[in-house]
Amino acid sequence: MAIDTRVSEALRTHIALEQYAYALYTEIANFADRQGFSGLAKWADGAAAEELEHAKMFIDYLRKRAKVKQLAIAEPPEVADYLKALTSALEAENNVWKSLGDICAICKLEGVNDDATDQLCGDWILTEQVPSVKFIEDRIRRLARVMGTSGGVSVLDLLDAEMF
Ligand SMILES: [Fe+2]
Repeated sequence: MAIDTRVSEALRTHIALEQYAYALYTEIANFADRQGFSGLAKWADGAAAEELEHAKMFIDYLRKRAKVKQLAIAEPPEVADYLKALTSALEAENNVWKSLGDICAICKLEGVNDDATDQLCGDWILTEQVPSVKFIEDRIRRLARVMGTSGGVSVLDLLDAEMF
């Protein structure tokens, strides 16, 4: 069934957001590895691999329904500290979540009525975005508790070892 251009364009934008998340997680892993935070590095490398799979899943879906053209991907920010790593990851996950919600809203428009894409993106919010955002938010809360305390650096190392 032909896809509405508004849906296909929103999916293209979404694919670029998943690819951005891959680049960001890779940058976080680069930072973590440089600093010797092996817990964060391992988690971020795994998350990067998952984001590539997510992008590919949406590319495969869009290919079945429309011509796929790659959009340019924004360059991730330089990750310079532990908290920034997690807050930038949370921002990227929330942007992906919002993008999925936007696609669902377009799918429900009169004249669009794209139930398949609506269901795909709605399910993806529940299975991927809700747990991912919760996971990162929990770690930001835990990190916030040790930041600014005396001996914070060694506490941070201990936290890194058991957090991921
Ligand atoms: Fe993703």
